[in-house]
Amino acid sequence: MNRPVGVRGLAGAAQITELREVRAAAKDWTSFSSRVMGDPDVRDYPQLPLEVDPPEHGAFRALLGPFLGRQAVESLEPAIRSIADGLVSEFAARGRAEAVHDLAIPMVATTIAHVLGRPGDAAEIRSWGMTSWEVRPDGTRSGARLHEYVVRVLDEGARAPGDDAFSRFAAAQVDGRPLTRREQVGLASLVLAGGRDTVIHTLCGAVWHLAGDATARTRLRGESQRLPLAIEEYLRYFSPNPGMERRATTEVRGNWGRAGDGDIVILGWGPANHDPAAFDAPGEIRLDRRPNPHLAFGSGPHTCIGIHLARLEVLCFMEALLAVVPDWRLGEGVVLESLPLAADDVPMRFETLPLEVC
Ligand code: HEM
Repeated sequence: MNRPVGVRGLAGAAQITELREVRAAAKDWTSFSSRVMGDPDVRDYPQLPLEVDPPEHGAFRALLGPFLGRQAVESLEPAIRSIADGLVSEFAARGRAEAVHDLAIPMVATTIAHVLGRPGDAAEIRSWGMTSWEVRPDGTRSGARLHEYVVRVLDEGARAPGDDAFSRFAAAQVDGRPLTRREQVGLASLVLAGGRDTVIHTLCGAVWHLAGDATARTRLRGESQRLPLAIEEYLRYFSPNPGMERRATTEVRGNWGRAGDGDIVILGWGPANHDPAAFDAPGEIRLDRRPNPHLAFGSGPHTCIGIHLARLEVLCFMEALLAVVPDWRLGEGVVLESLPLAADDVPMRFETLPLEVC
């Protein structure tokens, strides 16, 4: 998942950028269909439930509730807190860390291994790095490693069913029939890919911003009830999933332009989150922004089902960081990529983020 707008592959497609229009298009799946197979360089199967429309969509989405629904995620809070505490304590003890690889990737990989019921796979999932796709030195990508893992764990789940997500996918039914292997792979691939770089960039964005704002650090430390609001603002500002494709099923028009039947249109969550008609000073991070009707998690039937997990991961991590590390600053050698979102240039693809305790 996660096709960054303007970064690759989307040149030439019309993009909807006003928040009001993006939200309306996301809810109008009959005109803006999700039947678009993304990432054609790394997969030849649709990711589910992302790339199907209602009503078919609902049955596949329901299969994720037992792992990603609010109750399921809340029951894992102690485990998620303990993962965050461990990583942050190590940072505090060493006095330095590279936030992407030492903190964010292990946080996200270990958490998803727990959520999917295969905690023993944490090291393997962590070894994939920033994304579940392999990125070769020349920048091309391969889906072979993820595919191999997914097929292996689905086979194991079919042979000796456990309580994990893959065993459930292997045994699941939709409309009274078993899932095809292609559908099982589509579900499994998305739960491993969808919440990876998105959460990593949110964590890094928050840590990066707070490193340069001592007043905000002090305020959040003193009044931790402010943290959930601050996290929503980081989600809005960094918009780690800046846009998703839809296929027009008829001629569609708006302030953004027009698209004909079959054309690709981008729902610009990121530009919508920086729409000056919807947010005062969208280029400023205001940690107490309220209301904050951002679209970082999308809108409509495909609204991110990982929303509870994403929020909890970031909350547990930031609470631990603010509690355990006295103070931190950026070290030498920050590598990040910025993306123009509406009129704002937003640092959002963190590659290397050295931190020092101070
Ligand atoms: C900050 C973190 C995250 C952001 C910004 C984010 C963003 C999004 C967005 C914008 C969509 C809607 C896509 C569309 O309408 O085409 C989406 C869908 C989805 N996300 Fe997330 N996501 C995040 C974390 C997660 C996590 C942790 C998971 C779980 C492993 C996850 C799993 C999914 C799934 C399965 C869908 C498809 C839902 C459906 O089609 O019904 N996401 N996400």
